[in-house]
Amino acid sequence: MKLFIDSGNLDEIRSLVPLGIIDGVTTNPSLLAKESGDPRKRLKEICDLVKGPVSAEVVATDVDGMLKEGRELAKIDDHIVVKVPFGKAGVQACGTLAREGIRVNVTLCFSPTQALLAAKVGATYISPFVGRLDDIATSGMGLVEEIVQIYDNYEFGTEVLVASVRHPLHVVEAARLGADVCTCPTKVIDTLFNHPLTGIGLEKFLADWKKSQSR
Ligand code: G3P
Repeated sequence: MKLFIDSGNLDEIRSLVPLGIIDGVTTNPSLLAKESGDPRKRLKEICDLVKGPVSAEVVATDVDGMLKEGRELAKIDDHIVVKVPFGKAGVQACGTLAREGIRVNVTLCFSPTQALLAAKVGATYISPFVGRLDDIATSGMGLVEEIVQIYDNYEFGTEVLVASVRHPLHVVEAARLGADVCTCPTKVIDTLFNHPLTGIGLEKFLADWKKSQSR
């Protein structure tokens, strides 16, 4: 399963890339709005850092606006994936951009029917928001399971990109269900390394070794 960072912060991305576990980055208007400076310059810097798919979201809500923005975003760097919100305009824009060879990530997906329609128009990625579903007592991973099954049934090329990830169990479940990508905030990626027994085990090894060296 590919692992993306869900962030627009260069320092966060720069701190994780050397670990060799990061395959891409996802941004959205809220994440980029947290950062200072020109968002398009920042997207280029992120592409240069991660050298993998970088999702950049349009803010237009009409088809023509999405197409204009999408084509401009795609020109920033070859690694850019244009993100469009699910809806009739997003689906239409996705189909047109995909036919032009521009990779599209359809975001704000909350139902299997939305995922089906996005795949039918050639989306490269579908982004089900699992945390926001969990927030309303609806199983986010249940949606991922349905989407993976539907996409397998019809061999759709669209990749399932699990988003709105809140904790490491979302990552475990995404991998168990066969999702293609999981995008996580930096604080969730940090938790993926943690296990108390690993720390305890290493301490014991080093203590035993140190004792043996002082005999
Ligand atoms: O990429 C989508 C993600 O950033 C939303 O996460 O935690 O605001 O639901 P969250």
